[in-house]
Amino acid sequence: MQTTAPLEVTPEMIQRYNRPGPRYTSYPTVPIWKEGQFADDYAECLGNEGKIDQPISLYVHIPFCRQLCTFCGCNKYITNNKQIVEQYLTALEMEITGVAARLGGAKKLAQVHFGGGTPTFLNETQLRRVVRMIKSSFEVQDGGEWALEANPRVTSDQQLETLFELGFRRISFGVQDLDPAIQRAINRNQTVEQSWHTLETARGLGYQSINLDLVYGLPLQTPQGFLKTMEEVNRMRPDRLAVYSFAYLPGMFKTHERAIKADDLPSPEQKIEIYLEAIRFFAEAGYVMIGMDHYALPEDELALAQQNKTLHRNFMGYTTLHNMAQIGVGVSAISDFGDSYWQNQKELSQYMEEVADNQLIPRRGLRLEKEDQLRRDVIETLMCHGELLIPDFEMRYQLNFRKHFQKAWTELEQFQEEGLVNLSPEKIRLTPIGMLFTRNLAMPFDRHLPDNGVLNFSNTV
Ligand SMILES: C[S@@+](CC[C@H](N)C(=O)[O-])C[C@H]1O[C@@H](n2cnc3c(N)ncnc32)[C@H](O)[C@@H]1O
Ligand code: SF4
Repeated sequence: MQTTAPLEVTPEMIQRYNRPGPRYTSYPTVPIWKEGQFADDYAECLGNEGKIDQPISLYVHIPFCRQLCTFCGCNKYITNNKQIVEQYLTALEMEITGVAARLGGAKKLAQVHFGGGTPTFLNETQLRRVVRMIKSSFEVQDGGEWALEANPRVTSDQQLETLFELGFRRISFGVQDLDPAIQRAINRNQTVEQSWHTLETARGLGYQSINLDLVYGLPLQTPQGFLKTMEEVNRMRPDRLAVYSFAYLPGMFKTHERAIKADDLPSPEQKIEIYLEAIRFFAEAGYVMIGMDHYALPEDELALAQQNKTLHRNFMGYTTLHNMAQIGVGVSAISDFGDSYWQNQKELSQYMEEVADNQLIPRRGLRLEKEDQLRRDVIETLMCHGELLIPDFEMRYQLNFRKHFQKAWTELEQFQEEGLVNLSPEKIRLTPIGMLFTRNLAMPFDRHLPDNGVLNFSNTV
């Protein structure tokens, strides 16, 4: 997937393909999941998972942030109220205990991931408390992977030390862009020094994998300006990088509507120019491109997983953990295991009330039919590897691939004419230009996508 050759993307292509589309961190996508109260179904699925002798991955959502970044699309809660935070941790403890009980008690953890919001919003005592609650409900596997997301503006050296002592070895820092004008435009005001400082402190302490998040398509960004950011980021030399496309959703987020002027956003042409420049720049800098929007140093596990075709995609992006049950705890957290998806209550006070009452009631859920399990496999394979071996699928699912996906195949033939994909009886293979439109190329396999695109997704470019 290494793409150093110049890529010819015409304005017509951008116009044709720039339409709302899922990022496929799940299939079916979240808007398709059923809404309701799924306490019994969730308990049953956890019970079934408990009988499988496999370790799991635990995602812990810490929703709090001190200040709102106006571009943000995460599930977060801006506060300075210390009492709410303590109350939340008590609720989290109840949920973790409840999940472990429903799993039947003896599950091992292979991975723990703190996401947000901002996990480093918590002080050291609170961070220790969360780790303690996890360890008292689960057995942590030797060599288990502990990872967290951290905002450099609120992450102290002491917190980094404490987290290291607690076993965290992977850390992901939000940067977005290093240009102060862009930081101002997204109400973040993170300085270049803050980004350097947290990175170097983490490196000095011995964190083994450091990731930086960048976002392209933010207000006031230009290709020239972003190049400067990339040059500085390359000097920082993180092990991994995420370069996300700004998901601008004014219909979904009031802050996008109020605080981000559409006129300040780069045009789709500029956006694709930045994206292409990022591919070229990081390839030349020695990074391997992973899927659509990640980069890793060649010796990093993610790059090796891509090479060995063991790369996977889930809510946290690309991962090396093969088919591992992922259980999410905390407000709005998502679980993905045993061919089912669940999302917790998104409203903080209601989440805390219910959990305190020992009730775990996901508000969205889906148990996948066989047909969707197959389609999920197809979409994930294309998103992770940019190619799909047809005989593998025919053997695994006992079907005639082209016959089964006749409609999708016809759509792919059109993409083939435009040079985005190569089709043969053995293989679907995205071309380097096709890789830029991976989301579009996965969409023909999505049987839930309405033709009129009414679901609220961000544009694919
Ligand atoms: C939970 S945040 C990271 C941790 C921490 N809260 C921070 O801001 O540093 C996860 C990442 O999602 C990305 N992100 C958030 N909102 C986005 C949006 N609307 N479009 C694209 N990426 C977004 C940002 O790169 C952000 O760093
Ligand atoms: S980008 Fe991070 S710090 Fe900013 S509001 Fe979103 S979750 Fe909070």
